[in-house]
Amino acid sequence: MKKSKVLVAGKLFDDLHETLLGRYDLVSNQADEVLEPATLARLMADREAAVVTPVDRVDAALLEAAPQLSIVCNIAVGYNNIDLGACTARKVVVTNTPGVLDETTADLGFALLLAAARRVVESDRWVRGGHWQAWRTTAWMGRDVHHARLGILGMGRIGQAIARRAAGFAMDVVYHNRSRLAPELEQACSARYVDKDQLLETSDFVLLCLPYTPATHHTIGIAELQCMRSDAVLVNIGRGGLIDDAALIEALRARRIAAAGLDVFENEPLLQRGFFDLDNVVLTPHIGSASLATRRAMCELALQNLHAALSGAVPPNILNPQVLGARP
Ligand code: GLV
Repeated sequence: MKKSKVLVAGKLFDDLHETLLGRYDLVSNQADEVLEPATLARLMADREAAVVTPVDRVDAALLEAAPQLSIVCNIAVGYNNIDLGACTARKVVVTNTPGVLDETTADLGFALLLAAARRVVESDRWVRGGHWQAWRTTAWMGRDVHHARLGILGMGRIGQAIARRAAGFAMDVVYHNRSRLAPELEQACSARYVDKDQLLETSDFVLLCLPYTPATHHTIGIAELQCMRSDAVLVNIGRGGLIDDAALIEALRARRIAAAGLDVFENEPLLQRGFFDLDNVVLTPHIGSASLATRRAMCELALQNLHAALSGAVPPNILNPQVLGARP
C-alpha cells in the first residue's frame, strides 16, 4: 500500500519518531533546525499531512505551496500559528493538543508569579555577582502572594488550574472571561466573576491565560496598565500579542506597575531589547508546557490525531470538523 507523505516540522522524542519511520513516507526535522517559511514551503510541497509546532506558520501562502496537504496537527493547544479559516476553506483538517498541558502550564504561571513577586531571579543574579554582605531588615522587599488578590484574565482549563493553586495561598481570586463559568465551577475554583476594569483596578496580581485572536490583541495596553495598581504584578502565560510589549516596558521602567513575569512575547523569540535592561521582569522562553511528561503527552496526542486523520477517522482534537462533513 502506498505510504502517506508526512512532514514532521519539529523534533519529536526519538522513540516516537521511530514509530513513524516504517509507517509513513516521512520527512522530518530531528535536527530541530529553525525552518524559515521558504524552507517549510519547500518541505511541504508534496506532503499530505504535517505535524507542526507553534513556530511554524501555516497560512494561505504556505497552503498555496502545498497542494496535496489535507491534515495539519499542531503540537500545542494554542493555534494562532495556523490560519484556521484558510485551512478550512482549503478543506485541510487542523488539530491541536488540549487538556494534557493545563496543570504544567499552570505550574509555570505560578512560578512566574512567585518569582516576580519575591524577586527570585533578580536576587539570584545579585548573589552570584558577589554582592551579598549582610542580612538587612529592609533589603529585598517583595510582595506577599498569600492573601493577595489574583485577577485571572481567561478562565479556561489553565485559568481554573491557576485558581485551584491560588486557594493554597489563601488568595482572593477574581476572574474575567468571555463567558461566565457555571456556578459549580466558580465554586470549585473559589473564584468570583468581575468586569475587566474592576479586575485590573483591584488585583495585586493580574495573570493572562487567554488564547491570542484579533479580539484579544493587546488586551493589556497603555490604558489597561494605567488602570492597574502601582504595586501590581503582571504575568503572561498565554501568548505574545496579548500585551503591548512596548507599553509594558515603559510601565515597568517608570514603575507604574511593580513587576512582570512573562513566558510569551510579541514577535518571539526576537523580543524587545528593552526588557533586558529591567530588573523587575522575569523572562522565560515560552516554556509553559515544557515538562518531560507533558511534552511527551502533547507529541503523543498530536500523533494520535495524525494517525486518526490519515486512516479516515475523525481525529479526537479536530478544530474544524466542518471540513470532514464537507468532504466529497
Ligand atoms: C503552547 O504554547 C501551547 O499552546 O500549547
